[in-house]
Amino acid sequence: MIEASEVSFPRQTKPYLLRLRLIELLRKLGLLPVADELRRWLTVVKHRKRDKAFAALCPNEVFPPTRSCVGTIGGRGYESYYEDGERSVKVLLELMAGHTELKDARVLEWGCGPARLVRHLARLGKDFGMEVFATDYDDATIQWCKSAIPGVTFARNGLDPPLPFPDGFFDVIFSSSVFTHLSEAMHYAWLKENLRVVKPAGLVIFTTAGDSLKHRLLPAEVPLYEAGELVVRTVPLEGAPRYNAFHSPAFVRQKLLPSVPDADLIQHETDLPLAGIQDVWVVRKHQTPSGVDPEGTNP
Ligand SMILES: C[S@@+](CC[C@H](N)C(=O)[O-])C[C@H]1O[C@@H](n2cnc3c(N)ncnc32)[C@H](O)[C@@H]1O
Repeated sequence: MIEASEVSFPRQTKPYLLRLRLIELLRKLGLLPVADELRRWLTVVKHRKRDKAFAALCPNEVFPPTRSCVGTIGGRGYESYYEDGERSVKVLLELMAGHTELKDARVLEWGCGPARLVRHLARLGKDFGMEVFATDYDDATIQWCKSAIPGVTFARNGLDPPLPFPDGFFDVIFSSSVFTHLSEAMHYAWLKENLRVVKPAGLVIFTTAGDSLKHRLLPAEVPLYEAGELVVRTVPLEGAPRYNAFHSPAFVRQKLLPSVPDADLIQHETDLPLAGIQDVWVVRKHQTPSGVDPEGTNP
């Protein structure tokens, strides 16, 4: 059975708000990339010994450069990268099994990063004869994945659609914390593209930064969020870790999902440990396109 996350939703304390304000000040001054690079470097130094020890415990696994783990979910070194990733994939498999046949399924992870999830999906999916694919827009990440992770077909996509696959190619496409780094226009374009590459009745599973991450909103952003709008914090490069989108469930239900009339929402979870404490959405593509009458019975 899928278990609810044991992570309790953080609250916004004064020191936390101060930290958010400092980040926003750095963003305005254009100093955020420098501060992030410094943070990455400090994390690498801090985790060096523990990462070495953890990697020695898994001699058959290849780990990405620690600095590329810092931008992913958790971002606390190899142990969280590996173990949270494995736990999340077990949750994902159970979620998928509730709605589709896993046997021989063709599955794509869009926005795979340094394979935190897909490396486990390749291994655990073998039991079902699953065929696993993964893409990201970051060329260095995809090059590393290709060289290090067996059992997955990796490809690069652009920041904008399309994906390099034909219509109806996959049974399931999932993304973990990818919409959280995109503009509103890109949400509509990518959800449509996700649906293009799944088969009729196929699944699109994605995560969003919903109510459980509301504490990260600045006071000035809260009214927009509460009004059901997407809150987007930009840095020059869309798709980057600091380009952050926050999704009130009202935005997803009232704006994003209605933009794809050929699909239905079939599950929304707010406490599944799949992408940290993000919301999880499961959408099913219609068996036949809207407006097409398969029986030819409509007048
Ligand atoms: C927070 S990381 C999540 C990585 C991975 N899904 C995970 O859960 O560990 C966000 C990922 O989305 C990727 N990304 C951002 N925009 C993208 C786009 N338009 N197409 C594909 N990948 C994208 C980034 O390169 C990054 O690897």
